[in-house]
Amino acid sequence: MAANAAYLRCIIPSCGATLDFADTTFRCPKCGSLTDVEYDWRRLRLPKALREFDAKDRIGRIGNPSYSGVWRFHELLPFAPIEQAVTIGEGQTLLQPADALAQSIGLNSGRLFLHYEGLNPSGSFKDNGMCAAFTHARMVGARRAACASTGNTSASLALYCAATRLLRGVVFIGSGKISYGKLAQALDHGALTIQIDGDFDDAMLRVKQVAKELGIYLVNSINPFRLEGQKTIMFRVLEALDWEAPDWIVVPGGNLGNVSSFGKAFSELFDLGLIERKPRFAVINAAGADTLFQLVERRGVHWNAGKPDQFAIDSYYNDMDAEHRKAATIASAIEINRPVNLLKAVRALEWCGGVVRTVSDQEILDAKAQVGANGLGCEPASAASVAGLRRLIAEQVIGRDERVVCILTGHALKDSSATVAYHGSDQETFADVLGKRGIQMAHFANCPIAVPNELSAIIRVIEAHHES
Ligand code: F0G
Repeated sequence: MAANAAYLRCIIPSCGATLDFADTTFRCPKCGSLTDVEYDWRRLRLPKALREFDAKDRIGRIGNPSYSGVWRFHELLPFAPIEQAVTIGEGQTLLQPADALAQSIGLNSGRLFLHYEGLNPSGSFKDNGMCAAFTHARMVGARRAACASTGNTSASLALYCAATRLLRGVVFIGSGKISYGKLAQALDHGALTIQIDGDFDDAMLRVKQVAKELGIYLVNSINPFRLEGQKTIMFRVLEALDWEAPDWIVVPGGNLGNVSSFGKAFSELFDLGLIERKPRFAVINAAGADTLFQLVERRGVHWNAGKPDQFAIDSYYNDMDAEHRKAATIASAIEINRPVNLLKAVRALEWCGGVVRTVSDQEILDAKAQVGANGLGCEPASAASVAGLRRLIAEQVIGRDERVVCILTGHALKDSSATVAYHGSDQETFADVLGKRGIQMAHFANCPIAVPNELSAIIRVIEAHHES
């Protein structure tokens, strides 16, 4: 019954075409735009207040919706009957205060929280969306699923295929553009792994063609059901903060699925009368992959009530192609120059009031080491959020006393070669992995110390270290 209250709608208000729930093109047939999952909320049972979610167990048994940090918010993404929801126990993630880090980047104590999505079964936030996409895929009878990926989407898809046996997975990766840990997951979980000559943007183009040609279900974030699952990241943030929105959510921007989904989450909660105040968003691009920043902050592209300046966007991309500009950053997950959710992100920035900033690879790796020293391990792309926050505090866009949540999107075991090079003492490796990307110093390095295999020498090193 719930499925009938959900449908797809073109995001452009002047078009507004609706698509059947079972559509898997995820494109408006009239104008080619992105689509949203929409609900006829009047036909659905809604909580009267977000506090109703308090009554549920945080970690339930298998088969209980609380087993999933996504489906325990089912009433807020009710596109499938709960009995049909696919879950492998995703979304049991945590929000942690980060006082020491707050002080070192200029926020008052008690004002910074890190929301850690690395705890998901495949090690990144993607699982929030993957369980939702798999639920839709099963309802529409899909047999195969595909994605382009810089690592995390492929790991998530491969894991859900292996764990649920519902779909067979095909992942497209750019050659030399995926971290070993993530490639290992895709291979281990048995996904058909296709390595193409090109980068993520090339792989994304190709997978869309292949999915259309072969009727394979696409699980990249162009799939609006994925974004429904990712809304729950914000529900968990609210829950951890006793249902009070923070002042700012800071999130890295790659394909811009997260910011789009977060915008939809807050805008729906607000329209349904379940929150009184929305947070503002800060989206952080890597300097070498800064399409959103260039368009929003430099060229003034805004949602403009659904009439964004398409000419500015098209000419930006035309110039990019003419100059053969490719995305380039150590933060592989956000090394994307053609974000598929660009317009949804621009819309979310308008709904919630937002800013976009860029950070260098140097800033990203320094922030990553600081996050690690604070007690959570994240990948470089995730640390872009903290690096961006530091900038926004310095610019006084974010005040010292504002309450800020940085989203740590993925686990430290991704891109670990960058981490080891950063902390290592081997100059050659440093130059090879980091120097060529403009990283000059490891300001927060924790170098391993080479010691002869002698007890007294080892003891001397340990004691000297602990005295310092
Ligand atoms: N952080 C991590 C850890 C990611 O894996 C990604 C995207 C992003 C941030 C960017 O998020 O698209 O919502 O803006 N990873 C994709 C992948 C590209 O293939 O796994 P977004």
